[in-house]
Amino acid sequence: MKKFLYLIPALIISNSCSPPEEQFIVTSPNKTIKLEFIKKSDDGIGYLIEFKDKRLIDSSLFSFDFKDHKPFGTNLEIVNSTSSSFDEIWETVWGEQRYIRNHYNELKVELKEKGKEGRTCFIVFRTFDDGIGFRFEFPEQEYLKDVDIIDENTQFRLTGDHNCWWIPGDWDIYEHLFNTTRFSEIEALSKRGHESLVQTYIPENAVNTPVTIKTDEGIYISILESNLTNYADMTLKVDKENLLFQSELVGNDSGIKVETKAPFVTPWRLILIGDKGTDLVSSRTILNLNEPNVLGDVSWIKPTKYMGIWWEMHIGKSTWDMKSGRHGATTENAKRYVDFASKNGIGAVLIEGWNTGWDHYLGSEQLDFIFDFVTPYPDYDLKEVVRYAKEKNVDLIMHHETYTHILAYEERLDTAFTLCKSLGIHAVKTGYVGQILPDGEYHHGQWMVNHYRKVMEKAAEYEVMVNVHEPIKPTGLRRTYPNLMSAEGLRGQEFNAWSPDGGNPPEHLTIIPFTRMLAGPIDYTPGIFDIKLDKYKPNNQVNTTLSHQLALYVVIYSPFQMAADLPENYSVGTLSSRDEEGHPAFQFIRDVGVDWDTSIVLDGEIGDFITITRKERNTDKWFLGSITDENRRTIEVSLNFLDAGKSYKATLYEDAEDSHWDKNPTAYKIESKNVNSTDTLKLKLAPGGGIAISFIPINN
Ligand code: NOJ
Ligand code: CA
Repeated sequence: MKKFLYLIPALIISNSCSPPEEQFIVTSPNKTIKLEFIKKSDDGIGYLIEFKDKRLIDSSLFSFDFKDHKPFGTNLEIVNSTSSSFDEIWETVWGEQRYIRNHYNELKVELKEKGKEGRTCFIVFRTFDDGIGFRFEFPEQEYLKDVDIIDENTQFRLTGDHNCWWIPGDWDIYEHLFNTTRFSEIEALSKRGHESLVQTYIPENAVNTPVTIKTDEGIYISILESNLTNYADMTLKVDKENLLFQSELVGNDSGIKVETKAPFVTPWRLILIGDKGTDLVSSRTILNLNEPNVLGDVSWIKPTKYMGIWWEMHIGKSTWDMKSGRHGATTENAKRYVDFASKNGIGAVLIEGWNTGWDHYLGSEQLDFIFDFVTPYPDYDLKEVVRYAKEKNVDLIMHHETYTHILAYEERLDTAFTLCKSLGIHAVKTGYVGQILPDGEYHHGQWMVNHYRKVMEKAAEYEVMVNVHEPIKPTGLRRTYPNLMSAEGLRGQEFNAWSPDGGNPPEHLTIIPFTRMLAGPIDYTPGIFDIKLDKYKPNNQVNTTLSHQLALYVVIYSPFQMAADLPENYSVGTLSSRDEEGHPAFQFIRDVGVDWDTSIVLDGEIGDFITITRKERNTDKWFLGSITDENRRTIEVSLNFLDAGKSYKATLYEDAEDSHWDKNPTAYKIESKNVNSTDTLKLKLAPGGGIAISFIPINN
């Protein structure tokens, strides 16, 4: 006998002439978000969402197209439906906060196709106070064994021509600037062929996820995904006529988007919802939709600040290769960075260009094998640098630029990680510049999703943390694999060094926390003090003030946080207001935490400004970062987040009166005062500016 356990079963008799529809409802624990699962009169299936009793996502449908099987999504009956609730608090290995509450109501609907084949699927909806996740679970069954998905057609129907913050649905790169337009003005194809992007493939008018939306009533929505496993990245096709985003999975040249076998589950489709943009930034739901840590002992996993032989290549002071005669990764230079890091409490040093192969990098010949990931250049004594760094108590970060020779890298993974292990190196930065080899695959397709997964798992076997550039975007997997530390997957600082389009505009990082950062940690590489780059790149510059660069250590979350500038720009050199202790503003980088007990998004508006404060894990120190776009701004911050009854020495690293991202970016001032939780600060941010504050408890 079949069990019918409907949550709130209701047969809705519509007032209009259209035939009745069956509905099932699940609400968030605080009852503000309501999801209705709908079975249409043609036995199609879908959902709609209400927020505070108003429609937010209109009637939207689900279906799948398969190769060698008929589509799935109509002619369905509901076999069963169950509801449940869940509430737990779990502890993160590292992150924006130590304890996370996972609290939701769940509705699970079992569907069966009418007729002989009777294919089945479960749809699971989880409603949280800050959003909704749903996914499709296909169990083992007779008439759906090997599954080639041609399309997943999941709809998100908007209720108006909302404002959207989007990047194109590029199958190969996320390094586009976010665009701010109405839904009806999204033109992803106009972003084809950007002069600074080596790899880019935008097949249609679609956006990537996360995409963030603001309704005219001021409600914020972001559509993204969680736990992307053995599946393809979800982009969203723009259907202007029907005000519809519809999932468009990234594919390959064979036309098959996902090759799998039942049983399988799709990634969670996640819709974050809030009254304020800052509600989205505070959400941890993407992590709650992932599985708990599977790595067991994680004592080798450590968030850290790091420096690197890196920016000097991007600004052209040195090169990755040797043939230029300006090779950056020499033994001597590596020791210089190690010395500086050691003296300043920076935990690690990344060394790019250490291995042979770079002489063929970006060359016209597409060689199959240019990097073996184990052979150092002759002027780089790897063992000696490792010995020296150990002596100075600094960790090294290994670099694997794959140049997207995926199979060559996979063949060499064990050898490469064995070398790390033998040298006691616990971190690798990987990179995927160029078009994927083999031909016909794309960075964000299922095949590459599985490659990134393989590297992460292999790294874990060898006790190595990873920081991925040109990655598949984060989807919360760091909960399950806490060795997945950080990722690029946006227009990083490097664009300021060489992009012919003038680099990242001042508003860039006021958009990122509300969009890309909802997916996970970002290796943005902040901390450039020599903003104008006069010596090496007079035609380029960083488009922020120096204080804005400092604020990024708090605003942009990453467990690996780089002090990206040259050591000489943090110590003695040509910039003003230095003393023997080095650049006075560098003290903030020395002090700031990288692993947090608590994070609070105090205020912000997407594309305008954002203020975040975070309390360091295992200390009582708080740090605050606030940044603005190209507009000057005064903000008031109540310090009521500070622990009550404690006094703190607050050190403010602020824009000067005449600071300006273009006209006077390096002007700043430092001010100290004693404060407590009853105080309020009035902060002035210059155009393109920011402020960084450390709050260090005063022991009475
Ligand atoms: C692009 C990465 O984003 C950058 O950080 C790296 O230095 C270069 N590729 C070389 O691997
Ligand atoms: Ca990059």
